[in-house]
Amino acid sequence: MNVKIFDTEEVQNFLRLASGLEQEGGNPRVKQITHRILSDLFKTIEDFDITSDEYWTAVAYINQLGTSQEAALLSPGLGIDRFLDMRMDAQDAALGVEIGTPRTIEGPLYVAGAPVEHGFARLDDGSDPDGHPLMMHGVIYDSEGQPLAGAQVEVWHANTKGFYSHFDPTGEQTPFNMRRTIITDENGGYRFQSIVPKGYGCPPEGPTQQFLNQLGRHGNRPAHIHFFITAEGHRKLTTQLNMADDPYVYDDFAYATREGLVVPVVEHTDEAVIKANGLTEAFGEMEFDFKLSKLVDGVDNQVVERPRLQA
Ligand code: DHB
Ligand code: FE
Repeated sequence: MNVKIFDTEEVQNFLRLASGLEQEGGNPRVKQITHRILSDLFKTIEDFDITSDEYWTAVAYINQLGTSQEAALLSPGLGIDRFLDMRMDAQDAALGVEIGTPRTIEGPLYVAGAPVEHGFARLDDGSDPDGHPLMMHGVIYDSEGQPLAGAQVEVWHANTKGFYSHFDPTGEQTPFNMRRTIITDENGGYRFQSIVPKGYGCPPEGPTQQFLNQLGRHGNRPAHIHFFITAEGHRKLTTQLNMADDPYVYDDFAYATREGLVVPVVEHTDEAVIKANGLTEAFGEMEFDFKLSKLVDGVDNQVVERPRLQA
């Protein structure tokens, strides 16, 4: 029988007590947010008549999520990362800030400390047996549309199995494989050689995929390349480009695909073009120019600090 006690004085007082709202000390913001989340949870338990068995299944799940280091994988899957971006976009719109290239989620797989190169970098170590060469290039523009020399382009992407170096369960990749920092040349240009990435899938046996299964959802992302772009006088841009021909390009479990960030891979088979690019086989080409946005009142009002792996 589903009894209703949530609205009683006893439960409401208990929520304030458990959230520390009746205590001196502690952090007032943490208390307020705890009170809201705990209240919403109590109410959910009551409204859905959640059983003790169901509740303890959820507690065990949270432990498993932490043990598997997947909390930051589930977060984009539940659309929370996308929601934070929507809020930043809305704040920009309210302030009348022009954003240039759209932002999209960082994802959980960035690693700080990649090798730094100037103008051009080779991203992959040449060891992926299925690797199809990729040449990508473009220009970084400032908020006024002028090319930005000396801008920092941090780029990272997966291999042909959809695995990222430092997070590869096969242990096959060398450190910083397909991760580089490229400083733009005097014309604001960046250029790199790598291999065409394949789509990413959540670890199939992991707790993120297990949750998605309960929602009847898949855990796949289209092939994509991540970027952080940083330059003096501008806000750091966090974004990704998604490959236009990937079947998941508009069906991304992490909701990172955005209009304006879908890029074709143009295939080149002409011998002269191959040679001119310093290659010996057919390759894909991607071209994309990024436009940064100005600081707001002299500060990057949207820069995100979060725990990141440093290798
Ligand atoms: C996830 C993985 C990614 O490569 C990415 O870009 C975003 C999210 C994830 O596993 O949640
Ligand atoms: Fe990714």
